[in-house]
Amino acid sequence: MSFSFTTDRKKRFKALLQSYPDKRSVALPALHLAQEQEGYLTRETIEALAHMLELAPADLMDTVSFYTMFRTRPTGKYLLQTCSTLACSLNGADQLTDHLQEKLHIKVGETTPDGKFTLLKVECLGSCGTAPVLRINDDYHEKLTLGKVDRILAKLK
Ligand code: FES
Repeated sequence: MSFSFTTDRKKRFKALLQSYPDKRSVALPALHLAQEQEGYLTRETIEALAHMLELAPADLMDTVSFYTMFRTRPTGKYLLQTCSTLACSLNGADQLTDHLQEKLHIKVGETTPDGKFTLLKVECLGSCGTAPVLRINDDYHEKLTLGKVDRILAKLK
């Protein structure tokens, strides 16, 4: 089955095309829009977007593989992203990631068997002043301790 935007997202995609100087410039927001709709980006989706934007599929594939915010595989209901950049590392991000791996019985990059949690380690989440930071879907959890993480996870289960 080929990819197409839902009616609402089709309108948003058209609005993007009108607000950028050329189709190439719409690549990043269009990829975000497709990922928001599908949950992750398949090769088929990327090829369809490339066609819509009059780009070579390989160009869009390169973009997807460069940015860690794009996912090419299904993820769990909750996507947990721990920051591994300096400010978070200095404030316990590694312990936080280890703790999550132990609690969820998965390694970084894996999803729990029930499909509930996926754990990823990513670069700076842009909230260095409140390190260590954990992003769960679109929500930021800051100045974390292991105790706070446990309380957050308990609410998600
Ligand atoms: S270093 Fe973690 S949010 Fe920037």
